[in-house]
Amino acid sequence: MTRHHPGTAAVATGNKYEIIGADVPDETLFKGDLLVASLSELPRSVNPIYYYDDTGSLLFERLCNEETYYLFRTERGILAEYAKTIAGITGPVSLIELGSGNAEKTTLLIDAYAGSHGLTSYAAVDINRSILERAAENILSVSSDLNFLGIVGTYQTGLAEIKSLVGPKLLFCLGSTIGNMHDDELDNLLLSARSALAPGDYFLVGIDLDKETKILEAAYNNQTAILTNLCVLEHLNWRFGADFDLFQFRHVAFHNKSLYRMESHLEAMQDQVININKLEFSFQIKKGELIRTEIMRKVEINAFSEMLGGYGFRQVEYWTDPGKRYAVILFKLRES
Ligand SMILES: C[S@@+](CC[C@H](N)C(=O)[O-])C[C@H]1O[C@@H](n2cnc3c(N)ncnc32)[C@H](O)[C@@H]1O
Repeated sequence: MTRHHPGTAAVATGNKYEIIGADVPDETLFKGDLLVASLSELPRSVNPIYYYDDTGSLLFERLCNEETYYLFRTERGILAEYAKTIAGITGPVSLIELGSGNAEKTTLLIDAYAGSHGLTSYAAVDINRSILERAAENILSVSSDLNFLGIVGTYQTGLAEIKSLVGPKLLFCLGSTIGNMHDDELDNLLLSARSALAPGDYFLVGIDLDKETKILEAAYNNQTAILTNLCVLEHLNWRFGADFDLFQFRHVAFHNKSLYRMESHLEAMQDQVININKLEFSFQIKKGELIRTEIMRKVEINAFSEMLGGYGFRQVEYWTDPGKRYAVILFKLRES
């Protein structure tokens, strides 16, 4: 993989390890005006990006180990079994991951590609700087010869960076992260992905499948899921000088069957006024009112692939676990 320009800023450099974008001001990634708009509109909501400060990123790692949170284990099982097959289908490519987190499962892909094709480079995009350092550690522990490029940024800013990478690519997004996006965000992501890739490039998506309410609701109502959700308010408190009292909200997560998704919310336990000092914004919230913090799409494979087909991505193959809980789907960008 050749990069045509040096990127925005390197906070850690060496032969193998570079993180760029770390000097991008936080305000351009965590936009206060959008937060104010989403908290002003009814029903109120907060973008799921606010799950991922340093505390939230650690909590997500803990969530992945919760007994009822089958997503992580299941996707890891699929990758353990099929990573070599995926590498065989795509042939040698540069690997680029959106929302890498700690890249623990990615090590399976790295191993397979390094074994099959002598992989030399991997780029990871994530909004959280410290998790990219952990991703680098995990990746370099399985493939010390690899060039690791971490890109601190949003999916959009990260995709703009990878446009300058040349050669065949496999772009991928694991952890059902794509399922957290609303229609307009998903539309933006898929359009940007299409324009960052060339015809013949691959796009690999790990996505959770629709299933019984009992299994879904157990996955998102364990102790770590509750804590993670409340910590969104703590994130808003430190970043924007807000005065949310975490004891005045409770976690609510339920299966919205008709919309094929789980939803996480925070419910106000009493009437209260919230001040977000750095944004000079206050609002009143009534007892019982919900702030939606995240959606988690639960898809059906054919419908999902058909939707991506509308953006020029043709399904090549998919793999599931024996219980058909989760799918890893490989797409190829069509010639236009
Ligand atoms: C659900 S976690 C998945 C992590 C990892 N891919 C996995 O499967 O375990 C989503 C990851 O995406 C990152 N993220 C969330 N919103 C983002 C955004 N808008 N732009 C870039 N990264 C984002 C988070 O920091 C987090 O690491």
